[in-house]
Amino acid sequence: MEKRQLGRDGDFVSTIGFGAWPISGAMGTVDEQTAIATVHAAIDSGITLIDTAQGYRTSEALVGKALKEGHRERVFLATKVTGRYSRQAIREAIENSLRNLQTDHVDLYQIHGWNPQYPIDESMEAMEQLRQEGKTRYIGVSNFNVGQMKTAAQTAPFHSLQPRYNLLDREIESDILPYCEAEGIGILAHSPLAKGVLTGKYAPDHQFPQNDERSQMSRFQGEEFRRNLEKAEKLKTIAQRCNLTLIQLAIGWLLRLSAVTCVLVGAKNPAQVAEHVGGQGWQLSDEELQEIEGVLASEPKTY
Ligand SMILES: NC(=O)c1ccc[n+]([C@@H]2O[C@H](COP(=O)([O-])OP(=O)(O)OC[C@H]3O[C@@H](n4cnc5c(N)ncnc54)[C@H](OP(=O)(O)O)[C@@H]3O)[C@@H](O)[C@H]2O)c1
Repeated sequence: MEKRQLGRDGDFVSTIGFGAWPISGAMGTVDEQTAIATVHAAIDSGITLIDTAQGYRTSEALVGKALKEGHRERVFLATKVTGRYSRQAIREAIENSLRNLQTDHVDLYQIHGWNPQYPIDESMEAMEQLRQEGKTRYIGVSNFNVGQMKTAAQTAPFHSLQPRYNLLDREIESDILPYCEAEGIGILAHSPLAKGVLTGKYAPDHQFPQNDERSQMSRFQGEEFRRNLEKAEKLKTIAQRCNLTLIQLAIGWLLRLSAVTCVLVGAKNPAQVAEHVGGQGWQLSDEELQEIEGVLASEPKTY
């Protein structure tokens, strides 16, 4: 498993990370035994970074159960404070997360998103305080734009940004990505499979069950879903020619950039994790990258 350094002076972490949102059941039911087996499969396959959050329903508690008995030391554990970012809310959130995760510290503690209700200087001060106390080893932010990162950095330095980034969602390429690269802020790419569109396994008339968040998302309905699945089919043809699956192509395409430290891939069972690992350890040629660009540019962007 390849590793990259988090930020300018952080730990080396696996380039594939385990995204622990789906094991919470938010993308359809996952039983506890399978959830824990999936985390173990990730660790056994060489994945060191596990990403969860206060807001991920049962995810932290499941990760905590999975990490008992010798697994905690093998992982770089990342979680997030979600929604409320006052000094007190952040402190309460980390104590709660540490209890759920059954550990005395996390490796990366991230602010889940920008919330203008809470002054960022107070939030970053609280995060830095936790770092100094050893409750977290590093600080990160998620879903921040460049202006928000600049403001946050005035109070405390941080090692990572966790933005949405995949073949169909490339908004960060214009300014966020170059800013992070210049500032030595590591990018942990979330939703790398566009929440399943880039698996290539769905038909345009697929109905997601009510307990799956995708049943409420416009991108998984109607014309928008159909158009994105068409692109996915074309990308699959390129992947097959490279002896890859579409999923592996989608992960490796993100890793073409050195600014991307880690790709956080969600999985619901051990077999899914096994496929992810094949997303690293190789490189796309310039011709293949150009061909992918051609497919992505072939239709107008709808979001
Ligand atoms: N910071 C944020 O605001 C934020 C937001 C979103 C996500 N994240 C992080 O990023 C991680 C990844 O995002 P995500 O989990 O939402 O979406 P994702 O990684 O883009 O897609 C994950 C889904 O794709 C399907 N899949 C994955 N591997 C597969 C395989 N090998 N074969 C077939 N299907 C496969 C699974 O769902 P099905 O089998 O049901 O299709 C899985 O739940 C999250 O877990 C979380 O850690 C962060």
